[in-house]
This record gives sequence, structure tokens and C-alpha cells, in this order.
Amino acid sequence: MAHYQGLIEKYRDRLPVDENTPVISLNEGNTPLIELKSLPRLVRKKVRIYAKFEGLNPTGSFKDRGMTMAVTKAVEGGAKAVICASTGNTSAAAAAYAARAGIACFVLIPEGKIALGKLSQAMMHGSVVIQIRGNFDDGMRLVQLAAESTSVALVNSINPYRPQGQKTVAFEVVESLGDAPDYHALPVGNAGNIGAHWAGYSEAACEQTRACAYCDGKCPFHHEKIATRRPIMLGYQAAGAAPIVRGRIVENPETVATAIRIGNPASWELAVNAQRESGGWFAECSDEEILHVQKLLARTEGVFCEPASAISLAGVLKDLEQGRIGEGTTIVCTLTGHGLKDPDTAIAQCVKPLTVDAELSEIEAVIREHLS
Ligand code: F0G
Repeated sequence: MAHYQGLIEKYRDRLPVDENTPVISLNEGNTPLIELKSLPRLVRKKVRIYAKFEGLNPTGSFKDRGMTMAVTKAVEGGAKAVICASTGNTSAAAAAYAARAGIACFVLIPEGKIALGKLSQAMMHGSVVIQIRGNFDDGMRLVQLAAESTSVALVNSINPYRPQGQKTVAFEVVESLGDAPDYHALPVGNAGNIGAHWAGYSEAACEQTRACAYCDGKCPFHHEKIATRRPIMLGYQAAGAAPIVRGRIVENPETVATAIRIGNPASWELAVNAQRESGGWFAECSDEEILHVQKLLARTEGVFCEPASAISLAGVLKDLEQGRIGEGTTIVCTLTGHGLKDPDTAIAQCVKPLTVDAELSEIEAVIREHLS
């Protein structure tokens, strides 16, 4: 089998690249689709739930899928620097891909509100980290202005190449399952990813040469339908940052899931379009529900995702409970980022480690206590 070289190489004929495009890749994509075995039993529902574990991308989140495309196209266009606003993961990915490309990277992050792992990545990869006294929405406004007034390329998901890369997650799910699932659930923050998923599923199920928004009907993929249908899309937001669920901008968004602490998503309309076209819905989960499911997933399935990612499963479990999602269905949840991104939130929820003397008797006592 050929050495996997990232999603641009794999899906070259479905992406806006040609043989002269200088591909900037860290071999992102190709993430595992893990069937959750214990959770359906635990909630006593006959369903198949799969986790698409995007935390296993090179920088630990799904952002790598979009960033390989965005930085590749920026370099192709001659950019010498990229810029983004971020709640953490976008900045980590932008910093890594810019480093790989040998160009500069500027990231705007809300001061004190990004998880430690993500901050360490942006710093370690050598980006210029600008903390703003404001939130992500302020940062988003500023980077758009800065990209216009300077020659720096904007790599947030309003950059059209980002969703191009991110749509490939749907291709992988279809390849793994043999078709689209009944439902696909994911967290919604700046709202780019849900539309990207929908675009991917739409292309996978499209057999016509009619112009799709991306390739003018020229790409050979449109003759190779690989899915017979598209899933119902479910988008979940944190209760303190749920502008789309509530239908209005949230001025001061707050949630423990800092990745999706966003009150005015840039891709609001595209997200609503994916929900409407698919017959899906948006719903919210409280911080308690998010953290409960993050821990449940880690303890019952061995999968450690960050809080924002756990909301996809928290929402699905709630909708199963309420009968909104029926039994006998197949559900895929995108786990957007790795749990290691946010060690503080993880440690704060757990019992402190024991400290004992370095004696066998002490260890035996602990084992006896726990197994009794
Ligand atoms: N999950 C994680 C782990 C994220 O980092 C993000 C977004 C989302 C979900 C939501 O995806 O914005 O496409 O709706 N993080 C962005 C960032 C905003 O700056 O890292 P979305």
C-alpha cells in the first residue's frame, strides 16, 4: 500500500489543486472511526454510535484538514505570512503549517481564554501570539481588517479553501461505513465545520456533472458517486454560547468548552443551510452535560477528547433519551479535538492522585482498597 501522504494527495481530484501546487502537509486526515461499544448499552439504546476521532490529526484537531489547504493555497499565491483569530485550535494548526511552509504566522487569541495545550503549540511553532483584551468575535473582526490592510493571508474558515480541506472528513466516513450514516453530529462554534461536512457528504452522494459550488462540475469525483444518501446534520452549541440555537448574537459568550466560546459565528448562514437541507437541528448542552460526557467517554470507551468535542456526543445522548433520535439508527459524532489540548479542565474534574511512600506495602494497600 502506498505511503499515506495527507488528504490533498489522497483527494487531489476533488480539491482545488493541480500538479504545480506546492502541497504543505503533515499527513493529516485518515483519522479512525471508532465504534462506541459501551455507551449504547449504558443508555440502553439499540443504536450504532461511531466517533470520528479528529483529535488524532497532527496538531490534535480537525483544523489540520482545513489548514493544509489554506496554507497550501496561500503559499501558491505567494503569501509570506498568514493570520487568524482563534479560540486555540486554529492558531495551533496555522502555526504548525506555517512553520512547515517556512512562512510567518500571526495569531489573535482571547487573553486567558484558550486551553494551555493550544497556547503551547502556537508558541512552540514560532507564531507571533497576540493576546487581545476581548473575545474571539473581536479577534475575528480585527483579523479581517488586518488581512485587508496588509499582505497577510487570512486562514480562518471564511477562507474558502478551509472548508475544502475539511469536507474530506465526510469522504472518510463514507469510505469506512460504505455509505453515509443516518445522523452526523458535531459541535458548532464559528460554524464552518458543519457546512464543510455537509459539502463533503453532498459531493459524496452526487453523481451528476452539474456545477457544484467548488469545481464547476469538472472534477471526476462527480461521476463517482460513493454514497447513496446524505445524513441528517445535528449541530450542538454550549448553553452560554448558543447564538444559532437561540437565533441571536450572544454578546458575552461563556462556556467551559473554550473552543466554541463564540457569540457571533462567521459562517452562521452556511451552518443553517446545512441543518435545513439535511432536515437536522441545532440544540444546546450545559457545561455540566459537556463535562459529564467528556469524562464518561474517557472512562467507558478509552477515548479522550476536549470539552467542546464531547458536546457532539452529549447532544446525541440527550436526543436519544428524549426520543428525537430513534433506535436502529447509525450516528457519527465528530470528536473535533484531543483531550490533551486542555489538561487543566481535565484535571479539575478528577480525583487528585494519591501520594504514598515508595513501599510495596503501601501499593498493595491501595490495590486492595480499590478492588474490594
Ligand atoms: N471543536 C473544536 C475543538 C474547535 O476548536 C472548534 C472551533 C469547533 C469544535 C467548532 O468548529 O468553528 O467550525 O464550528 N475552533 C475555532 C478555533 C473557532 O479558533 O480553533 P466551527
